[in-house]
Amino acid sequence: MVKRVGIEGVGAYVPQRVLTNKDLEKMVDTTDEWITTRTGIKERRIAEDWQASSDLAFEAAKMALERAKIEPEDLDLIIVCGVTFDYPFPATACILQDKLGARKAGAMDIEAGCTGFIYSLSVAYGYVATGVYENVLVVGSDVLSKVTDWQDRSSCILFGDAAGAAVVSTYKGQGELLNFYLRSDGSRVDDLLIPAGGSRNPASHKTVEERLHYMKLNGPEVFRLAVRVIEDAVLAVLEKANLSKEEISLFIPHQANIRIINTAARNLGIPEEKFFVNVQRYGNTSAASIPLALYEALEEGRIKSGDYVMLVGFGAGLTWGAYLIRW
Ligand code: ACO
Repeated sequence: MVKRVGIEGVGAYVPQRVLTNKDLEKMVDTTDEWITTRTGIKERRIAEDWQASSDLAFEAAKMALERAKIEPEDLDLIIVCGVTFDYPFPATACILQDKLGARKAGAMDIEAGCTGFIYSLSVAYGYVATGVYENVLVVGSDVLSKVTDWQDRSSCILFGDAAGAAVVSTYKGQGELLNFYLRSDGSRVDDLLIPAGGSRNPASHKTVEERLHYMKLNGPEVFRLAVRVIEDAVLAVLEKANLSKEEISLFIPHQANIRIINTAARNLGIPEEKFFVNVQRYGNTSAASIPLALYEALEEGRIKSGDYVMLVGFGAGLTWGAYLIRW
């Protein structure tokens, strides 16, 4: 028998250090005006040198556990998603398991670019719906500042660091996970990637000299694809749920660029106000972006009991997807 599954607690963490557009004007040939009009971003958070993905994840996870009113020992599984893990291996989820003292939990990482949180929620759903596990912690955490090429003005203005977390448990009356949609297109790998440091181009003096350990982004192409796949995912989940777009109270999109969000909203015929936006404060925080936005939407009272909420994301891979939740 399939059990009902819900989100019991949501937490988030952003580093204290703020990097404004004005600060960036001193680092690369750009202006506050260009960044604001092209992206909607005003500032972003940057991790300290000592902070890795698991350090951000730890803070967000602690908050999510407190809000779910469960102890680390109650966790059956920990999933960390992102693109900037502490190490190539072992899994960052294992490091988080130790930091939390979650003695009875399994741990694994999921890499699905900025769509990681939606992918990971679907995995957590499977374990809880089948009754295999009771409590799964899902954390989206990324420290993109460490793989950003601070000499590349076309990409370094976009990204920031953050973590967001959710406890997925058997349904107790809130945040019911209803249905999801996942897609990928691996033919678009070259549009967004870190070319070196993996088994394709192992680290060498040459790869470092050529700056191949930094993120490479084909901005205009990703922009075009992003608009298309947001529409695809939103329409697919609406159809699956047999709901109209008017019945969705709030859309929580991946926060990459305000123009991507507004263009997708316009194409879908959905008012922009129905799309939660905090990209102006944090930039694109990759796998952390959706749980951080969900956390802030809840804090700001934008989500009421019984509301239909849709998470929708896209990212490197290319991956994209959406998740329908009834709060
Ligand atoms: N400041 C000033 N000028 C700049 C800057 C900058 N920071 N960056 C680029 N320019 C210049 C370019 O050199 C170009 O000049 P040219 O016309 O003389 O050649 C001009 O501005 C226009 O450049 P475009 O790249 O065409 O600008 P566009 O309007 O497409 O905006 C942007 C670029 C913001 C990157 C946009 O394409 C975008 O947001 N794309 C999506 C990126 C994204 O979301 N990626 C991540 C998604 S997945 C994930 O989250 C990991």
